[in-house]
Amino acid sequence: MTKHALKNIPRHVAIIMDGNGRWANVRGLPRSMGHRKGVEAVREAVRTAAELGVEYLTLFAFSSENWSRPESEVSDLMGLLKTFVRRDLQTLHKENVRIRVIGDRSNLRSDILPLLLEAEERTRDNTAITLVIAFNYGARDEIARAVRSIAGDVAAGILHPAEVTPECISARLDTADIPDPDLIIRTSGEERLSNFLLWQAAYAELMFIPDFWPDFSRETFHDALRNYAGRERRFGGVTAAAPTLAVGS
Ligand code: FPP
Repeated sequence: MTKHALKNIPRHVAIIMDGNGRWANVRGLPRSMGHRKGVEAVREAVRTAAELGVEYLTLFAFSSENWSRPESEVSDLMGLLKTFVRRDLQTLHKENVRIRVIGDRSNLRSDILPLLLEAEERTRDNTAITLVIAFNYGARDEIARAVRSIAGDVAAGILHPAEVTPECISARLDTADIPDPDLIIRTSGEERLSNFLLWQAAYAELMFIPDFWPDFSRETFHDALRNYAGRERRFGGVTAAAPTLAVGS
């Protein structure tokens, strides 16, 4: 499929990659195998998104709440992320992929933070697609950090309270220079946002698909974008073609 075969490609797709554990469970495999297969699905999703002309792909890799999982699973996920950044960086860089990381960077382990910083630095001028990795990410934490920074500037007299607009808040989030997601997909049939991009999701189309993340294929991605292309986004207004009765949304 070529870049232009699908219409109305979302500029920014964000994905909650859910169901690795269940994928493994139903096969009688350890959860770690589900996460391993999940990384393969990540590779394919990045390739497919770039092929389709998606400009930003955000993946929820590790939430600030995921630390409460058993230590062995946390260390397994850390290991996978490190391997991904180490092993795939070369390929991603060659494929002109820019890497960005969102989430709380304070108190990150010393074997992780430098890797993430290096990936961002090395790929900063790449233009094919931006892969945003949400790591140690929680939307409420992100908003609280933004509010703390604004409160500091107000207290210091640098910022007037009247200047605290939605734009001002957006500009203090980890996603400051990233457009809001047009489409948020969650796999595995769960239908909630689980503290993911809460502020940025204001007008996003939400899509909940039954497949477990390791089964998220090129075809699944194409189907999702076909479904998205058929949706009408009104951003609280009305479209030119809409009948007069169809006010609001
Ligand atoms: C949810 O499945 C998935 C995660 C918590 C982690 C997702 C991480 C990866 C796919 C690998 C690392 C990421 C990158 C970007 C290389 P779950 O374990 O909650 O599944 P369950 O709900 O079925 O138990």
